[in-house]
Amino acid sequence: MITYEEPGSWLLTTPSSAYVVRLGPDGAPRCAHWGPRLTPGQARALPAGREELPGEGGERFGVAGLQVRYGDAVRGVEWRHLGHDTDTDTDTGTAGGGDGDGEGAAAHLVIRMADRHYPLEIDLHYRVRSGSDAIDRWTTLRNTGDEPITIPRCDSAAWTVPQREDYRLTHVTGGWGAEFQVRRTALATAETVLTSRRGHSGHHANPWVMLDAGDATEDHGEVWSAALAWSGSWRITVERDHDGRAGWSGGFGHEGVTWRLGPGEALETPAFTGVYSAQGFGGISHRWHDHVRRHVLPAPRRVRPVVFNSWEATQFDISQAQQMELAELAAGIGVELFVMDDGWFGGRTGETAGLGDWWPNPERFPDGLTPLVEHVKRLGMQFGLWVEPESVNPDSELYRTRPEWVLRQPNRHSTEVRNQLLLDFSRDDVADWAYDRLDELVTGDDVAFLKWDMNRPVTEAGDEVWVPYIRNVYAVIDRLRAAHPHLMIEGCASGGGRADLGMIARTDQIWTSDNTDAAQRIAIQHGYGQMYPACTMGAWVTDSPNAITGGRTPLAFRFHVAMAGALGIGGDLRRWSPEDLEEARHLVARYKEIRPVVHGGRLDRLADWAVQYTLDADVVVLSWRPTTLVRATAPLRLKGLDPDGRYRDEDTGEIRHGALLMSHGLPRPWPFEGVSELKRFTRVG
Ligand code: GLA
Repeated sequence: MITYEEPGSWLLTTPSSAYVVRLGPDGAPRCAHWGPRLTPGQARALPAGREELPGEGGERFGVAGLQVRYGDAVRGVEWRHLGHDTDTDTDTGTAGGGDGDGEGAAAHLVIRMADRHYPLEIDLHYRVRSGSDAIDRWTTLRNTGDEPITIPRCDSAAWTVPQREDYRLTHVTGGWGAEFQVRRTALATAETVLTSRRGHSGHHANPWVMLDAGDATEDHGEVWSAALAWSGSWRITVERDHDGRAGWSGGFGHEGVTWRLGPGEALETPAFTGVYSAQGFGGISHRWHDHVRRHVLPAPRRVRPVVFNSWEATQFDISQAQQMELAELAAGIGVELFVMDDGWFGGRTGETAGLGDWWPNPERFPDGLTPLVEHVKRLGMQFGLWVEPESVNPDSELYRTRPEWVLRQPNRHSTEVRNQLLLDFSRDDVADWAYDRLDELVTGDDVAFLKWDMNRPVTEAGDEVWVPYIRNVYAVIDRLRAAHPHLMIEGCASGGGRADLGMIARTDQIWTSDNTDAAQRIAIQHGYGQMYPACTMGAWVTDSPNAITGGRTPLAFRFHVAMAGALGIGGDLRRWSPEDLEEARHLVARYKEIRPVVHGGRLDRLADWAVQYTLDADVVVLSWRPTTLVRATAPLRLKGLDPDGRYRDEDTGEIRHGALLMSHGLPRPWPFEGVSELKRFTRVG
């Protein structure tokens, strides 16, 4: 709900938080409150605080989320209020296509501002939705004059947290095969920059941030957080000053990338969504998961099928007969969708050739994909394909015919990463080509699922490329979804290199990491799940020893880790014993029983090595002892049950008291590593 409290003051109310914006004496919009709910009377008593979009000019010496240069070399903005608009509409989901089953009424506030002298209008947008604690904020700039204006920086929003004695910063870091490692550190009295300059959101970081006052735990204490809906370069600068004030400003692009706003043109930033919780980091995750499931995902209620993916099993060494054999084995253990990964197209028999040539390799598939697709369908599964539409190998038909489509700069060396170049996706003709090729593939072979990969960063890109590139990636995916409402898309960039709210808004799941070692995956999933829900977290069971790490884990352990997300199978089933396949069949069947709870329920982290999902009367607990160093001996205490409720253990039939499950917990007499457990309880009274 958004209320206009008095001239120049607005109160945004969500189920458990409130946000107050007020025009300061200098005319600049400022944050007066972000925290627990307030009455209008309380909101009115608050003074204006830090700026909503701090710029340059006057006595501003902090981070400038808005940087402007006019033709006469004058910089900055002097704020003038033009008015405001509010409207309420029914939210029908973010991206086009899919089941479009987003829900709830949304209220949208636009505070319309302008420069006092120069022809620049600045709209500050706020959106809240009934039943959600998320507040979307973004900015639109408009050049209303007849000279270009240079914009070195336009953040989506700055967020201010209330003044506290101390602050802690939570974020994720990592690398390929090691994404989403949670870091929680004291916030320096300085500017701390979280950023990606890679043209994708990154393995080394992820575009979200959390601050607390140093006192929040998993279940208690105030936490303030925000995440950016952007899949290219980004920057979030967290600021803590000498007087103990803290907040952050964030938006698309990295430093040094400048926008030229021509006469009559507008620049709209992506949304930077904020969530506050007084229930600790667990409470923050609950709110983000709810928000993503209800308002971000294009088809949140769609059942995520159990996928088989061929990558680890066959790598580039693909043949029709071998894929058919894998499909038979996959169908036998209960797989619902068979995905052929890299190596099926053009001259792609290794990393050096073929990217860009999106037709079946004529030697490997002399009759096209139809025989394999028909085989997969006869086995009762849907069919999916891996694609990497933004890339091209110099050794490809596409490169030979369209060398001018490659992203490059004159007089500069073209950087190859994994032997590939990038197409200039900021060009509409390139985006149209990609759409046509993919549309043809999906239509021709009844493809139900695309794994959209991106295996290299953006290099040799001029200022004008970075933003339109991502917008065109979005546009191609959105067009595909609109034309093929049942198509599922998995977002991937060498694993979890492009996992963000922008990608999640137009995909069904994310390939979390190329590291499929179940013991190591626990930490990756722990970090991913801070922000993004389990239904989006692609997780495969692969072989032991693991192809990347060499780590060995029992089959049930591998399943129990992957069952905490959107389960897939990525092992070479031809090498699994009949006993393994039989055990896998049982575990897939169990997964299908718990899938609605894992994907639709509330996630509670019971420990670093245990998660609980709760949906209405159903409770699922997955716990693992990945190494003997984890002291997994204390009882595992469940969360969020009704203390007066009675819960049936679905394996033993035993009836347990909610109060005891929460206070005394489940015993963990696990002496060694490699042990794992799946428990199910149903509330019976
Ligand atoms: C990336 C992906 C992998 C696989 C390969 C194929 O690395 O993350 O899952 O699809 O590309 O080349």
